Amino acid sequence: SSSGLGTEIVSVINKLQDVFTAVGSSAAQIDLPQICVLGSQSSGKSSVLENIVGRDFLPRGTGIVTRRPLVLQLINRAAGGVPGTTPQINGKDKGADKAANADEWGEFLHLPGEKFYDFHKIRDEIVRDTEAKTGKNAGISPQPINLRIFSPNVLTLTLVDLPGLTKVPVGDQPRDIEKQIREMLLKYISKPACIILAVTAANTDLANSDGLKMAREVDPDGTRTIGVLTKVDLMDAGTDVVDILAGRIIPLRLGYVPVVNRGQRDIEASKPISHALEHEREFFENHSSYKGKAQFCGTPFLARKLNMILMHHIRATIPDIKARITQQLAKYNAELQTLGGPLGDGNAGNVVLSVITEFCSEFRTTIDGNTNDLSLNE
Ligand code: GDP
Ligand code: NA
Ligand code: MG
Repeated sequence: SSSGLGTEIVSVINKLQDVFTAVGSSAAQIDLPQICVLGSQSSGKSSVLENIVGRDFLPRGTGIVTRRPLVLQLINRAAGGVPGTTPQINGKDKGADKAANADEWGEFLHLPGEKFYDFHKIRDEIVRDTEAKTGKNAGISPQPINLRIFSPNVLTLTLVDLPGLTKVPVGDQPRDIEKQIREMLLKYISKPACIILAVTAANTDLANSDGLKMAREVDPDGTRTIGVLTKVDLMDAGTDVVDILAGRIIPLRLGYVPVVNRGQRDIEASKPISHALEHEREFFENHSSYKGKAQFCGTPFLARKLNMILMHHIRATIPDIKARITQQLAKYNAELQTLGGPLGDGNAGNVVLSVITEFCSEFRTTIDGNTNDLSLNE
């Protein structure tokens, strides 16, 4: 199955963190990149994020629903003290739709100590706090909502849901709404450690994609932008996204992933994520344009692509972590020397480095294997 990589990456990170804890080194930390969604209003950004997390909790719908940035920190927390059993970042997990689960909860920064076990209540609180800070009439605010989700089924990672790009002010929106939203988004997507999911609805013209245009401004080489095509199910009969996937329209280095999220009627009928993912899989497997490449379509493939990019990031980070540890050890050794303490055989540093080297070779296949095929669908 395509979701296995999620498990591997969590074990890589857990293992590295074990090494660092054993070493007691604060110099060594893997800062995973943040993942942000970028695109026009109602292109399906919140829906994409929700499918990646595999839980139903983001406000979605027509019009401007996401009116403040939502900084969503997923924290992998082993169930009942047992190290994470089947962690992954997409919704393939069987328990993904469980209504209440003692091992999974959310906490808001603005409500310290309050644990939300019911994910629908999380959504209610996002809506409530959004209205409290921006009013009910389509106002926006750059003040983020910070939400942490603790679960044995997620990868420790930060995802950011952002308001969409709009042009014409509605309701209480200021006249320069376009500029204000752009500035809000730029703050997040300019960071070199931000992976951009540039979302475009497949039933609109790619050449008009505000998300792609803005992504290109901050990531001209396309090293951290993934194109996501939503609403493939709503395209006119006889049209498809095959030319886009093949890179013949607007080529993207990391390629595009077509997805099918829940439509407005599914949202109103509270269609569970597991059903939606099943429907998505069937859609691509049975569609004459996609059935030959269905494994490169849909949410599970998007999650795999993200995993590969994260793995690539970890691999790129390791030399730097090694350097920081070496530096830290040299500093401690120098301090010990000024104290006149015995240095023993001076091997402590070598032990640490050999543990990391061993770690790298143990995971070489995982790490290298996953990064060689980043642009599978091109
Ligand atoms: P956002 O404004 O970009 O965050 O978009 P939302 O995730 O809130 O979705 C906007 C609307 O589009 C909602 O009514 C969704 O149900 C609908 N939608 C999003 N993605 C898809 C899709 O792939 N297919 C269909 N049919 N509807 C979708
Ligand atoms: Na919307
Ligand atoms: Mg949204």
